[in-house]
Amino acid sequence: SNDRIMLPEHVAFIMDGNGRWAKQRNKPRFAGHRKGAEVLEGLCNYLFDNGIKTASFYAFSTENWSRPQDEVEKLMSLMMRMLKKNVPRFIKDEIRLVVSGDLDSERISASNKKAILEAVEKTRFFTRGTINICFNYGAKSEIVHAANAAVKKGQPITEQTIAENLWVGDLPDVDLVIRTSGEQRLSNFMLWQCAYSEMYFTDCLWPDFDVSELKKALEWFDGRKRRFGGV
Ligand code: FPP
Repeated sequence: SNDRIMLPEHVAFIMDGNGRWAKQRNKPRFAGHRKGAEVLEGLCNYLFDNGIKTASFYAFSTENWSRPQDEVEKLMSLMMRMLKKNVPRFIKDEIRLVVSGDLDSERISASNKKAILEAVEKTRFFTRGTINICFNYGAKSEIVHAANAAVKKGQPITEQTIAENLWVGDLPDVDLVIRTSGEQRLSNFMLWQCAYSEMYFTDCLWPDFDVSELKKALEWFDGRKRRFGGV
């Protein structure tokens, strides 16, 4: 059982390979994203039931706007449907939802922004677990935004003030990053929070990443000796 292994407090997922998964099945790319969203929902149950406090997911990057308009629109509506469907469950399970990214962008419609902020507001006091959806997210922008926010408040620029002004807010640093589909890059994901993360890469495509794949990653993490630059 999991009580014997060292668990990460914060796991962050780069959900890659949806398009290839769909292509292998002669399905439209969106079928891969839709299955990917189901995977995300399923993993959350397992994570929070097993004592992992925080899970982050890279759902939409600032670079993703350059995809075909049809795919962008479908990812947007998938995000909105996912929130609508899951907020009652988050409330029932006492899970806090955080959405980090540039929600002030004019590319996000006013109604979508409102729905996102309402969902976040409804769950903000829950403490059993936190799910952080990185949406219209880029880590360099996040750091620039945090520095500007600190200056605006008249704060000195320190690691502390940058950290407290990040979009992700008060989340702990990431202990374990999991990236699927064989790519071994961070792709502008949580650069600040991943300074000391362990990195787990698997060839498994995201729509196939199930609880048994997650357990493999957690066992791998348990086997790492983490030294934070010390000896
Ligand atoms: C990368 O696969 C995945 C994405 C760009 C989107 C991730 C989104 C989900 C898993 C669904 C949940 C989404 C929301 C918005 C809640 P890819 O399309 O780059 O795959 P490929 O590299 O095989 O083409």
